[in-house]
Amino acid sequence: MGNEPDIQNIDGNFTGKDIVSLDQFTPQDLEIIFRKAELMRSIAVDTKPSTILAGNIVTLLFYEPSSRTFGSFCAASQRLGAGIIPIHDAIHTSSVVKGESLEDTIQTFQSYSNVIVLRHPTIGTAKKAALTAQIPIINAGDGGGEHPTQTIYDMYTIYDMFKRLHDITVLASGDIVHSRTIRSLLNGLSLYKDNTAYLLSPEALRLDRKNLDKYSKRGLKIVEIFDEKEIPKTADVWYWNRIQKERFSSEKEAAKFEGKFRLTEALLHSYGKKDMIILDPLPRVGEIEERVDRDPRAIYLRKQMRNGMYVRMALLSLVLGKI
Ligand code: NCD
Repeated sequence: MGNEPDIQNIDGNFTGKDIVSLDQFTPQDLEIIFRKAELMRSIAVDTKPSTILAGNIVTLLFYEPSSRTFGSFCAASQRLGAGIIPIHDAIHTSSVVKGESLEDTIQTFQSYSNVIVLRHPTIGTAKKAALTAQIPIINAGDGGGEHPTQTIYDMYTIYDMFKRLHDITVLASGDIVHSRTIRSLLNGLSLYKDNTAYLLSPEALRLDRKNLDKYSKRGLKIVEIFDEKEIPKTADVWYWNRIQKERFSSEKEAAKFEGKFRLTEALLHSYGKKDMIILDPLPRVGEIEERVDRDPRAIYLRKQMRNGMYVRMALLSLVLGKI
């Protein structure tokens, strides 16, 4: 594994490591997280505060909006007894306003904390920060790049349902070219054998050729489809994500694609099989009809989101060496 020469692979040992890309992981590494997440699930239902991370401080440095990633990392830290430095709008509220560089900001917060969870609008920023910092950097989304912690809990959710991560068929729909969650998921699926991904999008938003080659070479079967009528009836997972309007040149450009391939009850009825699950990293901005929420296969507002907290609890304790 490991197409990121400068970022260390996990290789079974998380202590002190950065989490920047799915490229750092093997299936065995993901299994370690999943086992730990199970333990965290039981800790999270306990009302007694855990002290696993007592004495540690987690910086949440977010340059882009966030509800779930920010909220679940805050909750994960605090449920394990860590303190937090929560910076939700770094672009407006930190010294970045005064013109401070990313490197200086990272140096600053590493003086105060044990790990930095970073979200930034520019691809490659998490890697840049990781190369600057002496403490672990966790990539919470770098522009249109990757969102590894989202994918790890998406895969945990799939594993939880099917008890395997090979021989899975996923139908992913939306703004594939800009969606870091879909791209990270494809990267994750490509670590296992015999997986197939159907990618449903307008042609203009199809996966870039470089990543298509990368995942295909690793053995992920990718089938691009541009019409709802081509949806297979065999998919185990439907993964919908909104049009990433902040990644377009203008709102008007993005608006051209609003409402395309909306997941409706009718679509689910026509193409969805019985034992499948519907995931969405959220926020939902019209890509799934609200009526679909009551279908038991729709677990985005329930299990998927909750799993995010368990997996982030697991990741924080692993990189901080509290096993
Ligand atoms: C995703 C993101 O930020 O990429 N949100 C999240 O973290 N759950 C998906 C999105 O914003 O569409």
